[in-house]
This record gives sequence, structure tokens and C-alpha cells, in this order.
Amino acid sequence: MSQAKIPAAPPCTLFLFGASGDLVKRLLMPALYNLSRDGLLDRNLRIVGVDHNAASSEEFAERLHSFMANREQGATKNLDEKVWARLAKRLDYQTGDFLDPATYQALAKRVEGTRHGNAIFYLATSPRFFPEVAQRLGEAGLLDESAGGFRRVVIEKPFGTDLASAEALNACLLKVMHERQIYRIDHYLGKETVQNILVSRFSNGLFESFWNNHYIDHVQITAAETVGVETRGAFYDNTGALRDMVPNHLFQLLAMVAMEPPAAFGADAVRGEKAKVIGAIRPWSTKMALKNSVRGQYSVGKQGRKRVPGYREEANVAPDSQTETYVALKVMIDNWRWAGVPFYLRTGKRMSVRDTEIAICFKPAPYAQFRESELERPKPNYLKIQIQPNEGMWFDLQAKRPGPEMIMENVELGFAYKDFFKMPPATGYETLIYDCLTGDQTLFQRADNIENGWRAVQPFLDAWASESKVHEYPAGEDGPEAGNELLSRDKREWHSLG
Ligand code: BG6
Repeated sequence: MSQAKIPAAPPCTLFLFGASGDLVKRLLMPALYNLSRDGLLDRNLRIVGVDHNAASSEEFAERLHSFMANREQGATKNLDEKVWARLAKRLDYQTGDFLDPATYQALAKRVEGTRHGNAIFYLATSPRFFPEVAQRLGEAGLLDESAGGFRRVVIEKPFGTDLASAEALNACLLKVMHERQIYRIDHYLGKETVQNILVSRFSNGLFESFWNNHYIDHVQITAAETVGVETRGAFYDNTGALRDMVPNHLFQLLAMVAMEPPAAFGADAVRGEKAKVIGAIRPWSTKMALKNSVRGQYSVGKQGRKRVPGYREEANVAPDSQTETYVALKVMIDNWRWAGVPFYLRTGKRMSVRDTEIAICFKPAPYAQFRESELERPKPNYLKIQIQPNEGMWFDLQAKRPGPEMIMENVELGFAYKDFFKMPPATGYETLIYDCLTGDQTLFQRADNIENGWRAVQPFLDAWASESKVHEYPAGEDGPEAGNELLSRDKREWHSLG
């Protein structure tokens, strides 16, 4: 967002369900702080924390302040007290049980007391509350827009645990509200580098000429993390890397790379193209799903110099857990542009480096021009789009090393964000919250986007339910050997990370 010309979002009462949780203090409130600093919040925007534990508005504000002011990293490092004071004035707190109708009556009173009547209900809660809260909001009349104010509901991840549960949740939400009122979050879409994929592809005529199966050999999408499961053992052990990362974050990246140009940059056109491309992922048979997937789990190892425990030693993880902390998949997109081009996806915890990237591997030059020299087998060209942490795009090219001999070397043609743009620290939620306040759904998932994502991973879930092997890999390494074999059997290899 180039701050200068952007108008402040409309006034609204923003209810944060799950106000005592991690998401609110780590991401949502810092994002609101940044929006407030940049003058993007209306004077009449109020933020109301909702949770079951008793607290006053002052205590709620104080708890957030002490967390945000003491961070040594992240978006609120060096908190500006003046900016904070302005934000703190907007804060209220409502004690209430999510299942108790009285809570919703109290919220309704707060909305009735405003002139604008606009309200957003942000469900930063455990997913088991999503249907319950939605139903009660509906029963209390809080989703009724007939008096003129907008009413929107933000749903955090995870949205379902498989296709059937995602369909059931969508059905339940759509009973009490319209699709245009639902904002399903995937925080990857808040990342500048993810949004930039569409701009790069569709605003530079150059790319379209080679963005297809004539020139692209295959595509790799990697989200490598160095962290383990941290304090989320109980959640993660029931979830695993596939559900946690693939139908949502990795498929967002895949959709950005593979979708057709939308007819407009509006929410429906963009989401329609995304739904089509994810819907075109070939549904593997059980045998093919097993052949085209690898599950891994980290064992004890080293992260840098530090010894780190294996996954099964983590808190709240079963000692004989078979949950994957790494997954690698091969998927095919059955459409005109991508026929025959494999997409290899991998994600894992406790890998050697933090690196989220898309590597597009081009077909080799049609014949070996420099047969007599070392140049006979040139390496493939890659376009690397790095989402984080070193944001940018790089083309790997072959160049002649200066000197009398014909020796080839890999060089890079690149664009690093830090060389062109000043990016103030941000959480990634700023754009998403601003868009929700202004009613722009482009960066949110529509029901069909979510369901197509689950539909595409369902064959893997089904195949693993009957037969699943989890390969160990030492923490600090890039997944199990079987993950490399997924590519080497196709005579390919993973692009090196970092
Ligand atoms: C979350 C997952 O959705 O995304 C986490 O639940 C994961 O397990 C995180 O660590 C990764 O997000 P980012 O922005 O750090 O790549």
C-alpha cells in the first residue's frame, strides 16, 4: 500500500473473538497498530475484544501493550507510545461465553449504539467455535444488513480438516449469511510477494510468452521452516504438514503461478480463475497418491549448533506419533497450459533454512551448442520467486566465465525488494484487515476455492489412511531421502534452498 493516497477505511465495530489468544496479540493488534499509525482507520472505528475470561477494557489494553512493547522483533519492535495511545483509546472488552446468547445481546447493544451500524466479527478462535458463533450471530440478528450497515465475518484457518468437513462448514455459514459477508483468511495472501506474483505475470508482457508447457519443464513450490511445532503440539499432532500447509498456503502459491489471466482484477474474476486451476489438479488414484507423496517426521538433530528434540519428544505429541512434519507431493494440472508439467510441492518443519520459494524450471536449450566444451550439458534455467525471507525474483542464467577457456558459470539476474522498496515492518494482516473493512474480497477465499483445495488433497488423505509410511529425517536437514527420490526418479532435483 502506498500510504499517501489511500483513504481511511469506513467506521466499524470490529469484534475480536478469542481476544485472549495468541493471534490477537501477535498479529491482529500489531496490524491494527500499523494501520492506525498510517492513518488508515476511521475515527469511529472501535475494537472490541470478546472472550470468556473477565477483564476490563483497561486490562485488555494493558495486556496487549505489555506484549507489544516488549517485543524484540516483529512489527511492533520500537513501539511508538503516541501511536499506541491513539489505538488504546479505541479498545473495549466484552466478557462473554461464545455459546451463551447473552453474549450476543451485549454485542448487539454495542452495534445499536453506533450511527454507522457496521460490524465485523473476527473469529480468531479455535475452529470448533466457527459454526457455533456463526449460528448465534445469525440468531441474534447481527448478520442482518437490511438497516444499511455492513456485517462481515472473518474466519481464520483451519477451515475444515478434509473435504467433507469444509463443505459442512461452508453450508453452515451460508445458512446464516451470504457469501459476500464471509472473509476466509489465508494469511499468505497478505504477503506482498504473493500478491506480486499476479502483478509480475500480468503486467509484464514478457512472461506470458514462455509461461506454459512449451517452455516450462516443471515447477517447484517449497515452504521450508526451521521452527518445530513450538507450543502447538496438541493441534499439530492431529493436523500434520499436509493439512496445515498444502490446501491453503501452498495451493495459494500454486494458483498464483498457474491461473489464467482474470478478465478483471475484481474479487470474483480473480477467485474464479483460482478455483478453476485448483479444480484442474488431477485426482490421483490411491496407488498414484501413494507413489506421488512422501511423508516425513523430524527426529532429534541440530539447528545450527543447537541440539533440538525430535518431533515425538515435543510437548503434547504422542510418543509413537505417525503425524508428518514434512510432506512432498507431485501434482499434475490437467489443462491446456500445464498439460505434462509436474508441480512438485514440499513443506516441512525443522528444515535447514527458512525459505518459501517457487522455482520455475525451464526446458533446456534444444541442442548442445557447445558440444566440444564443458558446456555440453548446461544446467536448466530457473526463475526463483522468493516469498520470504529474502523477498525478490531471480533468473539463473549460464554465462561464460571471462578467460581463454570456454567455461560456463551460473549467474543471477535479479530483483530484491530491499533494493527498490522501503518496506516498513508489517505482519501481513494489515492489507487483509483493511480490505475487509473496505469490503474487498479479492484476497479472501471463496467457498469453492476452499473446497477445491480440499478436493485436490483428499486422495492423499484417503491413501494415507489405509497405508502410510512416515520417513524420519534429522532436524536441521531438508527432509527425508524419499523426498529427493520423488524428483530423482523423474530425472530432476530440488532447487537448492536459501
Ligand atoms: C500457519 C501454520 O498457517 O503458517 C504454521 O499453521 C506455519 O504451522 C505458518 O508455521 C507459516 O507461516 P509463515 O508466514 O511463517 O510462512
